Amino acid sequence: MELKQLIIERRSIHAFENRSVSPSIVEELLDSAVWVPNHRLTQPWRFILVHREGRGLIGQAGRAFAERMEKEPAKKQEAGQRLYDKLMAIPMFLVVVMAENPHPLIREEDYAATSCVIHNLSLLAWEKGIGMVWETYPLIHDPGFREALSIRPGEKVIGSLHLGYPLKFPIAQPRISAGDRITIFDQGL
Ligand SMILES: Cc1cc2nc3c(=O)[nH]c(=O)nc-3n(C[C@H](O)[C@H](O)[C@H](O)COP(=O)(O)O)c2cc1C
Repeated sequence: MELKQLIIERRSIHAFENRSVSPSIVEELLDSAVWVPNHRLTQPWRFILVHREGRGLIGQAGRAFAERMEKEPAKKQEAGQRLYDKLMAIPMFLVVVMAENPHPLIREEDYAATSCVIHNLSLLAWEKGIGMVWETYPLIHDPGFREALSIRPGEKVIGSLHLGYPLKFPIAQPRISAGDRITIFDQGL
């Protein structure tokens, strides 16, 4: 697929077929995705792939989180079950974690580079017929979620990527033309 077409036609996928992408394919895609511009070559990222029975770790953390968040005692169980079921319907999670550099500027650069890795991955996956959505739901910052996946202090969860073979393709939301957002200076004083 032509790069331009790939970039424009990629969509965030929320509904997946009930089959898992092979971890070896994900690893292969990541091996290319990490070739991003990365100031100081800090390579601050780490990837946690969760699928099959492993999804229970996220499902259970989600259940406990939703129960805790629900204010009304009578609704806690139902809220927990709802999130558990929602999470367990995702065939594969790729949790992207970044080592948080103590220096704010480096941390910002690292976040930018990690974001490039994630988007590279989504384009490479799309080219292979694999869909993805980058999720930043509050659960990713929950201590129970972090503990379940052995995320260490000093590591920030950048996103929970949901990966799988697309079941439904969302309609593209139009973008503002770059021409409306560009300022060009081509004259001196
Ligand atoms: C940093 C970041 C965080 C996102 N978090 C979420 C999220 O939590 N839930 C979600 O449904 N989509 C999330 N998205 C996906 C966007 O909603 C999606 O890219 C946007 O709606 C445009 O749709 P498209 O990707 O299909 O073009 C996130 C995207 C980015 C870049």
